[in-house]
Amino acid sequence: MQVIQGIKELEKFRSSLGKQEQLGLVPTMGALHAGHLSLLEKARQQTDHTLVSIFVNPLQFNDSKDFDKYPKQVEKDLPLLEKAGCNIVFIPSVEEFYVQQPTLSFQFGYLEAIMEGYHRPGHFNGVAIVVSKLLNLIRPHKAFFGEKDLQQLRVIQYLVKDLSMPVEIVPCTTLREPDGLAMSSRNMRLDTGQRQRALQLNQSLRKAKDLLGKLPHSEIEELIQKDFSAEKLEYFSIVEKMSLKKCSDPFQNKEVALCIAAFIDEIRLIDNIIVSS
Ligand code: PAJ
Repeated sequence: MQVIQGIKELEKFRSSLGKQEQLGLVPTMGALHAGHLSLLEKARQQTDHTLVSIFVNPLQFNDSKDFDKYPKQVEKDLPLLEKAGCNIVFIPSVEEFYVQQPTLSFQFGYLEAIMEGYHRPGHFNGVAIVVSKLLNLIRPHKAFFGEKDLQQLRVIQYLVKDLSMPVEIVPCTTLREPDGLAMSSRNMRLDTGQRQRALQLNQSLRKAKDLLGKLPHSEIEELIQKDFSAEKLEYFSIVEKMSLKKCSDPFQNKEVALCIAAFIDEIRLIDNIIVSS
């Protein structure tokens, strides 16, 4: 496994690849878990060379405390990637990656007005800038993103489509712990009690799923909101799977996404499930 830190070195690697060789990119912020590794595994199946980037992108943190507390553990991540058969790891420094504060900014219209976009102003601009830079520098044939961050996945799909970027975005399903908790780097910050309370996110999604078709969406949303009296729920929304627009009629759409974000004390977690009616 080759570890690349500098952009020049990255360029050298990229230009060494033959025209027929397929390159797969898995962008991450490190603190790797089995969910990240499942993206790598998919990349390994679909491409000849896999490149995982590890970069905790300051631009996408709307809360500087969240950035400071974000787990950073490259020394633990590297052996995991090596064992999982990754070919190249790209770990740029902030100074090397952002030679200047970007002047460009992205706006994603409706997608920024709802859920993550509404609660984390500027977040998707930061995500779009880092992902655009990675795609430009690395020029992968395919890039792998998790449905765990469904709204981020949609933002990136629109970004690539709007700018005609020559890359295929491959969505990957969410990996969960045996009790249903969606795997996340932020779970490392949960103590035993918080870890137990965090189960409420997935339990609510499953409860809502069972109620789909039996109650109007607005009533299901109200019920879930009431359940969250102890934890701070940011949103629970039933939306159409692709557009992420609200859909009030339970039978109107074939596939809906149930999306949730809540704070367990100061730790913010998100989850979603996609349901076919
Ligand atoms: P990060 O949170 O490290 O996630 C990297 C990738 O792993 C994302 O595509 C995310 O959706 C996916 N992922 C996270 N948890 C997962 C799980 N339980 N199952 C499957 N996939 C999962 O998302 C980011 O980093 C950043 O915003 C990034 C795209 C790297 C830009 O900075």
